[in-house]
Amino acid sequence: MDKKLAKAMNEQVKNELYSAYLYLAMAAYCDYQNLPGFAHWMKTQAKEEQSHAMKIYGFLNNVGERVVMEAIAKPPAEFDSPADVFKKTLEHEKKVTALINDLYNLAQKVQDNAAAIFLQWFVTEQVEEEKNAADILAVLKVIKADSGQLILLDKELGKRE
Ligand code: FEO
Repeated sequence: MDKKLAKAMNEQVKNELYSAYLYLAMAAYCDYQNLPGFAHWMKTQAKEEQSHAMKIYGFLNNVGERVVMEAIAKPPAEFDSPADVFKKTLEHEKKVTALINDLYNLAQKVQDNAAAIFLQWFVTEQVEEEKNAADILAVLKVIKADSGQLILLDKELGKRE
């Protein structure tokens, strides 16, 4: 495998694990704010990010590349509000989308068809990831400081499978 692509995909294992860690930090904030549904949604998201990391780990392993665990940065612990949590989630997912697109473009440039086809799943997944965050953020913008509505949304988010 092209060395630059292998290094960038290895880096994405770390990026996905950072995403998991960030969403766990958000879950901890939501739990502390007595919003267990929001916390559940974020914990589920964190698990999803771990599965993204493992998908890339598996691919690198299958093509005979050594996977190396890089250092994961400390995520922020403080957020202004549930709306701020989802604003930052959407911002983060947009950054991840850019990283995935860069990876996909690199795979195409070095004519690694297997990697490009593998990465297509992530390209599509990012559309979903951004939409999920944007939809919840839109609801939170309507709710503003209505605590009754916030509790109802918390119940709804708690149903995420
Ligand atoms: Fe792994 Fe949230 O994208």
